[in-house]
Amino acid sequence: MQKTALVLGAGGFIGGHLVRRLKDEGFWVRGVDLKRNEFAPSAADDFRLGDLREQDFTRSVVDRRFDEVYQLAADMGGAGYIFTGDNDADILHNSATINLNILDALHKTGVGRVFYSSSACIYPARNQLDPDNPTCTEASAYPADPDSEYGWEKLFSERLYAAYARNFGMVCRVARYHNIFGPEGTWQGGKEKAPAALCRKIAEAETGGSIEVWGDGVQTRSFLYIDECVEGTLRLMRSDFAGPVNIGSEEMISINDLARLITDISGKTLRIENIPGPVGVRGRNSENSLIRDSIGWAPSQSLRTGLERTYAWIDGQVAQQPARTAA
Ligand code: NAD
Ligand code: GDD
Repeated sequence: MQKTALVLGAGGFIGGHLVRRLKDEGFWVRGVDLKRNEFAPSAADDFRLGDLREQDFTRSVVDRRFDEVYQLAADMGGAGYIFTGDNDADILHNSATINLNILDALHKTGVGRVFYSSSACIYPARNQLDPDNPTCTEASAYPADPDSEYGWEKLFSERLYAAYARNFGMVCRVARYHNIFGPEGTWQGGKEKAPAALCRKIAEAETGGSIEVWGDGVQTRSFLYIDECVEGTLRLMRSDFAGPVNIGSEEMISINDLARLITDISGKTLRIENIPGPVGVRGRNSENSLIRDSIGWAPSQSLRTGLERTYAWIDGQVAQQPARTAA
């Protein structure tokens, strides 16, 4: 019998890549999203456009017992979206409603196995003050103190999935993703994250010029390439380990060094201008002991390799844009 998968948020970045991978594995896939994929047609067998905040629509897409359900739908973005404070009510309301609706529908249909995409943003702000020594072990999540409402919603939803597992025997797998990047990710418009934003700025800059980087650039992060994210997601989903567990890279880098690395890949000579902007925590890095010990896997690809592919893709997107006219 052909296996079936339901991918919620299939029109987004990670969802689009995940659907493609599930199709390569021979699954029949239903994708669901508010919007279609921006950069390539979905590989899903059946794509339902609709709003998972609507209970009736959510129930209508969970009309059978799928073998695997991946819940990626959320109101999300990079620092320019989640740290300004302007989108807090939407983020909390939209993402929490989606998760409440989905778990209710899965429970009523008797679907047993679901993956939920949480975030490194659940970790306490107090452990991410030192850019050189952040703490993001899974056990450090409590006492809770995320620095954004986006992180609080993710923590609430982690608890919701845990409660459905405890009370109804649902098999839930929860990953805390650490900044995922790659081709077909949002690269403009305000929701883009640092790797895509910096690739865009560098692709648009003339050699000898400069690019703007938010903050002093000393803040650190780690970035995980999309193929590794999909691999880790599938391995966790099919394992006996419930999580929550980090899926991220341990190759921490400062944001100015990230800008320098992408500049080097571009072959250009550029100056960095550090300007005020939404910055979030001072330091963050994935800690992969638990995922190594529990499912025997952790990502291995270098940041540079992923950035080379991502820069080439964004450079191509920029080249297709109509030329900007001077203001
Ligand atoms: P994305 O924004 O590209 O994809 C999310 C998708 O959810 C979008 O296509 C969006 O249209 C859809 N969606 C939002 N509201 C919806 C609604 N009401 N009904 C139906 N669809 C709706 O983001 P992504 O990078 O692919 O992230 C996928 C998941 O992983 C999200 O839950 C995100 O919070 C989580 N995550 C991502 C990262 C990252 O770095 N990309 C890091 C941590 C966690
Ligand atoms: N987006 C962006 N754009 N960030 C920039 C820029 C820019 O032009 N210049 C510098 N930065 C800095 C930000 O100020 C921040 O300090 C750092 O780069 C990382 O920003 P993002 O990549 O946008 O977000 P994040 O790492 O703080 O949070 C992201 O990762 C989480 C998981 O680790 C977000 O995408 C969250 O939604 C996600 O859950």
